Amino acid sequence: MPNTLNKRRAKRLGKKQLRRKVLHRIISRDFVSRMNDDEYRREAKRVYGGPKGAFLTVASTLSLHIPMGERLFRKRKFDLRGVRSALDVGSGAGQLAKHLLKYGDPGINVTCTDLLQPMLCRARTRLDSPVPEFVAADLATLPFADGSFDCVTCGYVLEHLPDPVPGLKEMARVLQTGGRMFLLVTEDTFSGAWTSRLWSCRTHNRKELLRVCENLGLILKQEIWFTRMHKAFRAGGICVEIVKQ
Ligand SMILES: C[S@@+](CC[C@H](N)C(=O)[O-])C[C@H]1O[C@@H](n2cnc3c(N)ncnc32)[C@H](O)[C@@H]1O
Repeated sequence: MPNTLNKRRAKRLGKKQLRRKVLHRIISRDFVSRMNDDEYRREAKRVYGGPKGAFLTVASTLSLHIPMGERLFRKRKFDLRGVRSALDVGSGAGQLAKHLLKYGDPGINVTCTDLLQPMLCRARTRLDSPVPEFVAADLATLPFADGSFDCVTCGYVLEHLPDPVPGLKEMARVLQTGGRMFLLVTEDTFSGAWTSRLWSCRTHNRKELLRVCENLGLILKQEIWFTRMHKAFRAGGICVEIVKQ
């Protein structure tokens, strides 16, 4: 009898998950994962080169990404102590770079990269600091030597690439052995599906993404959640600290 009950429960759960997946597929704009390299770059430029790019700081403040992100660095959930050279990939309006400057050790070197020059200009204005270097670059072809940084941060950028592997490989290449990565990616959840529709990006499955990382020698050190509520509702995306083996 308990066996039959378990089977029924599994069946019900299976159906529920299937319904959820179908709903996510309808809401999300997963076509990004089927684009070729040129198409996705055009799409990213269309999105961030237009009004949405100009609205990015406001959107990050309203979604609480900026204040909650800051809390993670302030509380040292991702500890910046000891970091000498940090690369922020896909800096946008400098949302994460600002935390690097504020909570990193004095003398920290910060390099901000983005596919779009207008986004780098916004970051430069917003950060208003002589410390960062600003370099226009594609995540999949970073113009830095192997092992140039002991810390890489990448917030909500990987989901703009059709395939995460070239981007992760590049970040792993420029990271020193033992270096740490702060990775934040839109997840295949209900809220992630809406994010993907709003910002024309794809979503990632947590387990699959971490498997890909592991195959590239990027080992999960810890999962990070903005708050307990985020953990309970699986909101805010995949936020992890990764170490290069
Ligand atoms: C959602 S914003 C993220 C901004 C910031 N990192 C944050 O944590 O809020 C995504 C940024 O990634 C940039 N981007 C998109 N595709 C990229 C690529 N292939 N290489 C580098 N930057 C890219 C966009 O121009 C945009 O500024």
